[in-house]
Amino acid sequence: MTEAAFTPRVFSGIQPSGNLTLGNYLGAVKRFVEMQNSGIETIYCVVDMHAITVWQDPEALRRQTRELTAAYLACGLDPKKSILFNQSQVSAHAELGWLFNCVARLGWMNRMTQFKDKAGKNAEKMSLGLYAYPSLMAADILAYKATHVPVGEDQKQHVELTRDIANKFNHDFKTNFFPEPEPIIDGAGTRVMSLRDGSKKMSKSDPSDMSRINMTDDADAIAKKIRKAKTDPEPLPDNMDGLADRPEARNLINIYAGISGQTPAEVLTEVAGQQFGQFKPLLADLAVAHLAPIADEMGRLMADPAEIDRILGDGANRAAEIAEPILADAYDIVGMIRSR
Ligand code: TYM
Repeated sequence: MTEAAFTPRVFSGIQPSGNLTLGNYLGAVKRFVEMQNSGIETIYCVVDMHAITVWQDPEALRRQTRELTAAYLACGLDPKKSILFNQSQVSAHAELGWLFNCVARLGWMNRMTQFKDKAGKNAEKMSLGLYAYPSLMAADILAYKATHVPVGEDQKQHVELTRDIANKFNHDFKTNFFPEPEPIIDGAGTRVMSLRDGSKKMSKSDPSDMSRINMTDDADAIAKKIRKAKTDPEPLPDNMDGLADRPEARNLINIYAGISGQTPAEVLTEVAGQQFGQFKPLLADLAVAHLAPIADEMGRLMADPAEIDRILGDGANRAAEIAEPILADAYDIVGMIRSR
């Protein structure tokens, strides 16, 4: 089926499950803003129902939901241009998620690397929700018939599963109802690595706070984390091949490029030959200049939680207007009687 039959529409989401990191920012939010400003229709969600697939303290979940919304706004998402809302306020996500639980196959879920990573040796003790999570993610996207999904590298497999679910639904019910959405994974920041270990993803759940930059870190914390970031003793090379076996060096160059909007190769032409003692202060200055105003604006927005809740409620109304007719058609296709 060709995508051309569907109106272009962007959907993406982030879990309110802890600190927003520089990885979330470069891999997702910064690109959400670019897509919003390119004029395409954009819908961005705070996926609170995904967050509860692992334990969340209720008060902390409320705070983190508002904080992530504040981050969306502080980074440049505009509720007049994009639909911004939290997932649980639009019941179509859960309802379509159930239909998809009955379309997706157990074998597909068993192949999801993120479940294996999160569950480790404790799979038996994980929630059923964590296992079924990719099916809810497919519902998030397809409740809007979204065609483009900006995500970081680690979500690629889930978007591919969404395509499989759309395809199987269309095939089983002999229809052309759902699009097969494209993951949009581009730019230098789609896989930001830990500052302590260049082979591990920067993550909000890493036990070491020194491994990540949080969007709420102040200038001193950002500078300290970059100063202490793991590196190697070699000077920076003048081309990308020279970074092939140097994951930590490559990560810092990618971060610089992601923040400055250059390509990593362009950054290298400026900093070739420098030792990390020279390069790290440059990176710290760039990061602080870019991130400190965002943290300040988040603080200002968090002082008025009622306004944040109002924005989420308004976004949820607009989201529901799109999703409910799509859900109703999906129920009809499946054969459910809808008589009230
Ligand atoms: P989540 O909340 O783990 O991450 C949100 C977004 O940030 C990206 N990301 C990164 N990008 C680059 N480097 C990193 N170190 C890094 N860490 C995280 C993620 O790829 C993601 O784009 N399942 C999703 C949330 C979700 C969703 C959706 C996304 C639920 N429904 C529908 C798109 C469409 C998740 O857990 O992302």
